[in-house]
Amino acid sequence: MFNLFKKKKEAPKKPSYLPLKVREVVKETADTVSIYFEQPDPYLDYKPGQFLTLVMDFEGKEQRRSYSLCTSPYVDPFPGISVKRVPGGLFSNFLNEKIHPGKTLNVLKPLGNFTTDFHSKNQKHFFLIGGGSGITPLMGILKSVIANEPKSKVTLLYCSRHEEHIIFKKELDALEEKYEQLTVIHNLSQPTEAWTGLKGRLTRETISDFVKKAEAEGEFQTEYFICGPEGILETSIEVLDSLTIDSSKVHKESFYSAAAEAAQHESHEGALTRDVTILLEGEEHLVSVAPDTTILEAGLDKNLNMPFSCQSGLCTACRGKLISGEVKMDEDAGLSENEIKEGYVLCCVGRPQTSDVKISIE
Ligand SMILES: Cc1cc2nc3c(=O)[nH]c(=O)nc-3n(C[C@H](O)[C@H](O)[C@H](O)COP(=O)(O)OP(=O)(O)OC[C@H]3O[C@@H](n4cnc5c(N)ncnc54)[C@H](O)[C@@H]3O)c2cc1C
Ligand code: FES
Repeated sequence: MFNLFKKKKEAPKKPSYLPLKVREVVKETADTVSIYFEQPDPYLDYKPGQFLTLVMDFEGKEQRRSYSLCTSPYVDPFPGISVKRVPGGLFSNFLNEKIHPGKTLNVLKPLGNFTTDFHSKNQKHFFLIGGGSGITPLMGILKSVIANEPKSKVTLLYCSRHEEHIIFKKELDALEEKYEQLTVIHNLSQPTEAWTGLKGRLTRETISDFVKKAEAEGEFQTEYFICGPEGILETSIEVLDSLTIDSSKVHKESFYSAAAEAAQHESHEGALTRDVTILLEGEEHLVSVAPDTTILEAGLDKNLNMPFSCQSGLCTACRGKLISGEVKMDEDAGLSENEIKEGYVLCCVGRPQTSDVKISIE
């Protein structure tokens, strides 16, 4: 006998989006805009350096991208993001071309660990290294140090291609002029002939000289914040490692992972489909994960309300704790060494390697 009552597919539980109304759009350079939002009610609660996840529908499909807040909750009345175009990029070009004041964008609440706590008694040296759009979270951190820590100082080493590509140039000049505690050093890879500052590729030697100088100043405790293209990030980390800088003093944020992108196109021939147990919001769900699928993709296909943002292993929004089994990650740049040791995994780039994988999503 036919079952006339076809089982209804459970509707996915929608995460709660926060609608933010665009207040102002500022063209920073030919390929970057800053978008400032009206304060929602209650005010947006964020820490300097954190990011928003923008959620938009393109051709009927929900897409998400992360954008760091370039503002400081301590000084800026309105929260903002800055978006640099990526050639052929879906969100970055849309946001550069189609966003006007009055438009509403849906976001997820601010997330991210590329931040720190500030205290008026601190006497630290914040050494910030950034490249291109990587300036965005550094801008929020820099302004927060100035606002909260009169005894601390900030050095920003900022790499851009050309004079005209320097994002926030005017704002940085004005801040440097006003606050003695701030030093901004620009490094341009392709400057005009008139440029007298640092130029060419940012080398290990240049970074190493700055770090050694910073470390020699005993009265300040130096903390490093690095955000930029993979080259700058990797070179900086290598230099800091080689100078045995304590990793707890080094904070890094990456916007793009070539490794995660490559893994999506890799062949997973010979790998097995495996069941994974996901503990989410107090319930256990059994999800079948095919070799060419990540744990997050499999969970979303089953309509699980799993948290995520970048889907590249960078932002940690999809972080879960491994209770049993083994998971291989295509990219783990978002996790600290300690988090990896403690058994945290990123579901958006995680593939089960054994049949007893159980993950708890916090
Ligand atoms: C935590 C976090 C914070 C971020 N903050 C910012 C920010 O403040 N400002 C900002 O502009 N961006 C930021 N990004 C990057 C942003 O989320 C998008 O990845 C970026 O805007 C590209 O999205 P898209 O939709 O335009 O391109 P997509 O349509 O996703 O990609 C188009 C093509 O470009 C390639 N691609 C994507 N991004 C890059 C890249 N960075 N370098 C080289 N190739 C790339 C892709 O592989 C793809 O082939 C952040 C990312 C993360 C993870
Ligand atoms: S969604 Fe960003 S790390 Fe997984």
